[in-house]
Amino acid sequence: MTAMPFSHIAGTGSAVPERILSNHELEKIVDTSDEWIMRRTGIKERRLSSTGKHESTADLGTAAARRAMEIADISERQIDTIITSTVTADRITPSAACLIQHQLEANHAAAFDVSAGCSGFTYGLELADASIRAGKAETVLVIGAERLSTFVNWQDRGTCVLFGDGAGAIVISARDAPGGILSTHIRSDGALWDLLYCEDGNPGPPDILNYIKHIPFHIKMEGNRLFKKAVAFMADIALQSLAQNKLVRDDIAIVIPHQANLRIIQAISEKIDIPMDRFYTNLHRYGNTSSASIPLAMDEAFRQGLIKKGDHVLLVSFGAGLTWGAAVIQWSI
Ligand code: UT7
Repeated sequence: MTAMPFSHIAGTGSAVPERILSNHELEKIVDTSDEWIMRRTGIKERRLSSTGKHESTADLGTAAARRAMEIADISERQIDTIITSTVTADRITPSAACLIQHQLEANHAAAFDVSAGCSGFTYGLELADASIRAGKAETVLVIGAERLSTFVNWQDRGTCVLFGDGAGAIVISARDAPGGILSTHIRSDGALWDLLYCEDGNPGPPDILNYIKHIPFHIKMEGNRLFKKAVAFMADIALQSLAQNKLVRDDIAIVIPHQANLRIIQAISEKIDIPMDRFYTNLHRYGNTSSASIPLAMDEAFRQGLIKKGDHVLLVSFGAGLTWGAAVIQWSI
């Protein structure tokens, strides 16, 4: 191994709960309509975890990790570090990453969570890249796993229509050949914390529709102000990433943005002048899965053949904190 290895994506995976909650079903829970949700967000349905189906945050993260490890063709013994980005770990402690480590039997790995709102995955990516480049790890799992449905106030139509559960994962491997993660940028502005926060409580049981009666937990959001910050911050950091890598818009094969709202993604597309047909979106099927949204979308795009070896991929994230970030990856598989 040379003094400064490169961090290559060796595998991707994802997992979502079975249960689909459609906009039409939501019409029976809160005063909303399929038409409003589609027009304002682009979301058609989302997934909710259920009891007894192995769909906890750690279960979803483990399933996504296993799929990524299959593509990377690595065994659990090779994993040096497991970084899980989540704001909805099954327990306050231990971390979701430790529970995932246990399920994977990745006994040699160090495991910890990153909490950076919906941007957590890009934060995890930066840590993984830094540790590989520093020679501290050769194989790192970065996982985004979330069950936002457990924190949503199912009586607040302004937020409960937006979120869903799921997980995505990647295996990053140290290699001598240049390529892989070309840059990461992460930013925060805690002064804007109160645009999106969780008021109280711990994750509840996953059977959300039975849980509505009890609601000790709430996501609070100032959607409109958040929308504008999301567009401004994500466009800005995407442009910084391109400039740092001396890439122009035509060099980017695909953009994988955080999947919060189709209108936010369209506005970013306009601002950075990369057409919408080069943005991958799946929020119509999953809603906003917080920090799972980017690895989940990346895995789908890869498996659909939309990302090829050598392609430049731009990731761009935004979330509670506020936090935002971006990464440019030259695809290795
Ligand atoms: O992942 C972390 C980052 N998240 C984000 O960045 C989310 C950013 N924000 C958004 O995506 C959008 O602001 C929302 C989708 C949350 C809301 O869309 P909007 O166009 O900003 O709507 P609004 O909040 O300004 O509400 C417009 C109207 C209001 O009614 P009035 O006051 O005009 O009579 C709301 O009460 O829409 C009403 N409304 C709804 N109506 C039907 C809000 N939620 C709903 C709903 N169904 N679910």
